[in-house]
Amino acid sequence: MRMVDIIEKKRDGEELTAEEIRFFVEGYTNGSIPDYQVSALMMAIYFKDMTDRERADLTMAMVESGDRIDLSQIEGIKVDKHSTGGVGDTTTLPLAAMVAAVGVPVAKMSGRGLGHTGGTIDKLEAIHGFHVELSGEEFVQQVNDIKMAVIGQSGNLTPADKKLYALRDVTGTVSSIPLIASSIMSKKIAAGADAIVLDVKTGDGAFMKTLDDARALAHAMVRIGNSVGRNTMAIISDMSQPLGYAIGNSLEVKEAIDTLKGVGPADLNELCYTLGSQMVVLGGKAKTIEEARKMLEEVVENGAALNVLKRFIAAQGGDSSVVDYPEKLPQAKYVVEVPAKEAGYIAKIEADDIGTAAMLLGAGRATKESQIDLAVGLVLRKKVGDEVREGESLVTVYANTENVDAVLQKIYGHIHLSQQPVTAPKLIQDIITK
Ligand code: URA
Ligand code: CA
Repeated sequence: MRMVDIIEKKRDGEELTAEEIRFFVEGYTNGSIPDYQVSALMMAIYFKDMTDRERADLTMAMVESGDRIDLSQIEGIKVDKHSTGGVGDTTTLPLAAMVAAVGVPVAKMSGRGLGHTGGTIDKLEAIHGFHVELSGEEFVQQVNDIKMAVIGQSGNLTPADKKLYALRDVTGTVSSIPLIASSIMSKKIAAGADAIVLDVKTGDGAFMKTLDDARALAHAMVRIGNSVGRNTMAIISDMSQPLGYAIGNSLEVKEAIDTLKGVGPADLNELCYTLGSQMVVLGGKAKTIEEARKMLEEVVENGAALNVLKRFIAAQGGDSSVVDYPEKLPQAKYVVEVPAKEAGYIAKIEADDIGTAAMLLGAGRATKESQIDLAVGLVLRKKVGDEVREGESLVTVYANTENVDAVLQKIYGHIHLSQQPVTAPKLIQDIITK
């Protein structure tokens, strides 16, 4: 088999065989096929697309390029959740504790974040003593005991995806639906998921800016998952404004705890129940979405979900008293309110720029080497559609530097008011099951 023939075939819009796909994925991973040939193929795929069959074969070839996590010793159906990312996305912690409390095992591998705030692992490290280095045996044991564990990225998972993603990044071929869908799904499958619930974000703060693009990506991933034997569904959720109120690591841990106490932000709460009900059904613990939702509401009301979070924190060495005393989380030195300059209705909170404001404070990493300040960030006081009086606070800034002028400027520049009442954007924009 010759790489040049594969490139020409795709250039001419033909369908590649499973063998041809495996040949280039293996060859690229082991270094026998050079960057320039794979670059040409990525560009051909970008323009000529891939069939559903090719997408599934590409996904599995990437899964087979490295290690796979074996979760077979964990009892029950392992349902994983993936979010395509957004600003202030605090979902994983409260969602995991809720579904674990109704008996769906959560065996999660998580990453650190690059961008506005840290990833789930960074957020958890805001809890004193918490660690994510568990052996395979400890991980399995903990999930069987308390239904929830989170570990850092370990092993050599999907090396083909790492190489291909880096190459796509510098060849203008990231924004291709078959390539994005296979990249994301390969990582979920290698991490051992039996079933997958996807939260595809849409809007200004999302990777997919438009609803049409988000739908196309969701359909692509759902089809891949289902065709390789993983029950998969997706919801499309709004990311035109940040999710919840908090953007920042400690602040988001507190928001997660509030949500499990039943006093979290309405949108974060609704997203957790929507994603959670799907996970509970896929996990075989309920027959209908309605039944699943009732179960989740019950474990929040009776404190069982909060109790799972406590046990999970303690099991991984963390100080679980933060659940009752969130003031024990890292605290910022300066707390600054941002008063509205006029009265009106909140028309827009541009997620991307507000996220950048949090990053300017030190809540996120600009490069892989940057240090995160776990204490800092923003808490929105208003969301789109809310009425605001002149002088009322729009945002509370938590900073460790006294001068926050640049941050205030960003906030004023990217929260827009209207004199007319504004309708809040719809949170759940679509549900994709095929
Ligand atoms: N996220 C991924 O994991 N892969 C892509 O290709 C794009 C976004
Ligand atoms: Ca949030």
